[in-house]
Amino acid sequence: EQLPLEMHKVRIVQKLTLLPIEERLRAIAEAGNNTFLLQNADVFLDMLTDSGVNAMSDRMQSAMLQADDAYAGSATFTRLAGKLAELFGTRYFLPAHQGRACENILAETYVKPGDVVPMNYHFTTTKTHITKRGGRVEELIADKGLLPVSEDPFKGDLDTDKLVALVEEVGADRIPFVRMEAGTNLIGGQPISLANMRAVREVCTRYGLKLVLDASLLQDNLHFIRTREEGYADTPIRDITAEIAALYDAIYFSGRKLGFGRGGGIITNDQQMYEAMRGFVPLYEGFLTYGGMSVREMEALVVGLDETMDPDVISQGPMFIDYMARELAAHDVPVILPPGGLGVHVDASRFVDHLPQTEYPSGSLASALYLVSGVRGMERGTLSEEREPDGTERLADMELVRLAMPRRVFTLSQVKYAIDRVCWLYENRELVGGLRFVEEPEILRFFYGRLEPI
Ligand code: F0G
Repeated sequence: EQLPLEMHKVRIVQKLTLLPIEERLRAIAEAGNNTFLLQNADVFLDMLTDSGVNAMSDRMQSAMLQADDAYAGSATFTRLAGKLAELFGTRYFLPAHQGRACENILAETYVKPGDVVPMNYHFTTTKTHITKRGGRVEELIADKGLLPVSEDPFKGDLDTDKLVALVEEVGADRIPFVRMEAGTNLIGGQPISLANMRAVREVCTRYGLKLVLDASLLQDNLHFIRTREEGYADTPIRDITAEIAALYDAIYFSGRKLGFGRGGGIITNDQQMYEAMRGFVPLYEGFLTYGGMSVREMEALVVGLDETMDPDVISQGPMFIDYMARELAAHDVPVILPPGGLGVHVDASRFVDHLPQTEYPSGSLASALYLVSGVRGMERGTLSEEREPDGTERLADMELVRLAMPRRVFTLSQVKYAIDRVCWLYENRELVGGLRFVEEPEILRFFYGRLEPI
């Protein structure tokens, strides 16, 4: 048994409670069987997401005290812009309040009705920003990416043959940019290889296409390039980061994931892109030197980004995820393999194979898991899709329950508790029934829709 080893110690703690099952039953019913609507006080282990809930370091906390409050021209902004320039080699930085705000600005600037945005795989908010502007998303994930179990180390790779075929079909002028998502969220946190990033760049250069990186989950992807891709075992994370950054016309990120912080932003070396997007920062986010972020979170991000260059720091999440996923697999629980970043992805289509996709197997399983354990996971399946324009369900490629591993937050015994409860539920999986909507919002329904048992 290979145990993950914590390369940090805990110096501030938060008390948790584990409610009795009757109270958990009340809580999940009140939440409309949607784990997003649970109160955190009713949750034992919050594995909903890694977003904004990663543990900060002592250095990040202390940096927050030296934040320079100013609407315009804050020294804090200069420090953050300088750190991004140092790590990514980019001259321009547009700050934003979080990752989806960057997507909003990119879509507002570049996506017109009838446009097509190719990507390795969509993310929920990314896609909605594009479709709301009349654009269309084309997912060009390599076929291996949708295999739940494989040995392939880089299931986030984009199929460049599919990209060439798409460009030939729709024409380069209908493609405002190509988007690559590091640590591909909705298919199990799967990384992209540097070799694939280079190959995609080559196609984009050939056709004169802009290439944009969603670096929200870059941290895990950096770890996987270093540990899984041939030739990078001894390459400093800083060098891998610089090599990646040089391939893209623009990079955006959620600081709630990357850099253990909050906020987000878009960075680029392209003056035209910078100027085209710049006006939307003061319009939607805040002035150009804070973009909706507080100076304290910007200071924390400066340090958090720097700590992201430390292999001992960024290996923690993937190592815990690897441990949990392989333990579950050893107990025959269907999980996505190889384990990726972000969290453990339980394959609900095999776990509750008695439920049709129209009864939301992932949502049902997430709700049941909370009931039997107090562990809060997140539905990543058909519920997280939006209906087709004609109202029919769009069935997800994968039905997953994500058990996120916020970085440096949980201990190994807590992870073992979660493993034990997931195994129990698997042995008793016939208890899990399907769900149907009682309140179904039109936009991003998974966040706040309410459901009931069928
Ligand atoms: N891109 C990716 C790949 C993401 O995973 C997220 C957020 C965003 C963009 C949007 O960033 O939340 O700062 O606005 N993912 C979170 C999650 C919410 O739980 O998977 P944001």
